[in-house]
Amino acid sequence: MASSAAAVVAEAEGEEVTNRQVILKRYVTGCPTVDDMEVVAGAVRLAVPPGSAAVLVKNLYLSCDPFMRTRMTRHSEPGFVPDYVPGKVFVIVSISTCYVTVCQVLDTCNVSKVVLSGHPDFKPGDLLWGVTGWEEYSLIPNPMFCHRINHHEFPLSYYTGVLGVPGLTAYAGLFEVGKARKGEYVFVSAAAGAVGQIVGQLAKLTGCYVVGSAGSDHKVNLLKTKFGFDDAFNYKKELDLNAALKRCFPHGIDVYFENVGGAMLDAVLRNMRPRGRIAVCGQVSQYNLERPDGVDLFQLVGKHICMEGFLVSEYAGEYYRRFEEEMARYLKEGKVVYVEEVAEGIEAAPAALVGLFAGRNVGKQVVAVARE
Ligand SMILES: NC(=O)c1ccc[n+]([C@@H]2O[C@H](COP(=O)([O-])OP(=O)(O)OC[C@H]3O[C@@H](n4cnc5c(N)ncnc54)[C@H](OP(=O)(O)O)[C@@H]3O)[C@@H](O)[C@H]2O)c1
Repeated sequence: MASSAAAVVAEAEGEEVTNRQVILKRYVTGCPTVDDMEVVAGAVRLAVPPGSAAVLVKNLYLSCDPFMRTRMTRHSEPGFVPDYVPGKVFVIVSISTCYVTVCQVLDTCNVSKVVLSGHPDFKPGDLLWGVTGWEEYSLIPNPMFCHRINHHEFPLSYYTGVLGVPGLTAYAGLFEVGKARKGEYVFVSAAAGAVGQIVGQLAKLTGCYVVGSAGSDHKVNLLKTKFGFDDAFNYKKELDLNAALKRCFPHGIDVYFENVGGAMLDAVLRNMRPRGRIAVCGQVSQYNLERPDGVDLFQLVGKHICMEGFLVSEYAGEYYRRFEEEMARYLKEGKVVYVEEVAEGIEAAPAALVGLFAGRNVGKQVVAVARE
């Protein structure tokens, strides 16, 4: 193995090419804007450091994820992922013939093609998904967070969504954390987004009664007609969220898949059934606030509600592979349908990310930066 990896590296010396990258210009307060980010032209030599296990990839699809906003604020305490550092701080990483100019590029789980590899598990031409930068090329020193793409019968962008982090998040959150069972009442917020659309469909496949909330009539219609939700409502049009939930769930909610937090969580807590479960996936309504909204968590006590946070990274490895096979089967059989919105070109990436906080995306928001 070591010798074949070395052979790949030996062929790896190449030209220097422009590497357009999206960086953060300044720490963000409130809603992010396009001006908070900048597309800059860096450079990369098409090479991997000799003797290393590094992989150089060309990024094909960039994922837009709400949690990226949480990394744009400077936190006094370290979180589960580091904050982005703003500014054009160029560092030249140089090992022998290989170097890359590094600035603080935004990163998340993207879809890429291997250009050069010193790692025995990856060879040029392989397609993978995992943590890379919002840039045209990424040099990954150790591809431990990269996964081979096994199903080539679907659009590659699906690995930023239904077959990647959002799909796995929906699956693990609904079944491992929410423990949804046949016949139960399930509520999903941000239901027409990347995670929400999959949660609702998986809950329907399990035999649950499923209701979703979303921020436009178009999305509500999509939930009921395309994704097969039993009911849905536009939270922006409801004067009283508590009343809306009572209307949709006269018997209460068994499982809440929590994506938004704030007033919606507060209203849901009032409508949970005894021994209900809340899978706390995210709280997108809170990400742009200086101080989070108050929520009456005392409701958990009297009703023995289990409210459990989780991170999708717990479910990597074998669990992911089982999920990937099951989800690929559902897609092939038409049991799960998938909606995504594809922006074109790396210059479109900042606006696509900002759009998440205005609900401009219908389904998963992704950015196409290169073709295979
Ligand atoms: N725990 C984990 O490991 C993990 C992994 C992935 C994602 N997540 C979380 O899962 C949630 C969904 O992520 P996603 O990738 O599927 O995003 P998404 O739903 O595709 O996009 C975000 C959506 O949030 C809604 N939104 C924006 N601002 C809002 C507000 N103030 N109040 C209510 N809704 C608002 C918008 O839809 P509307 O038009 O409906 O308002 C928007 O389309 C997020 O909270 C994210 O952080 C967690």
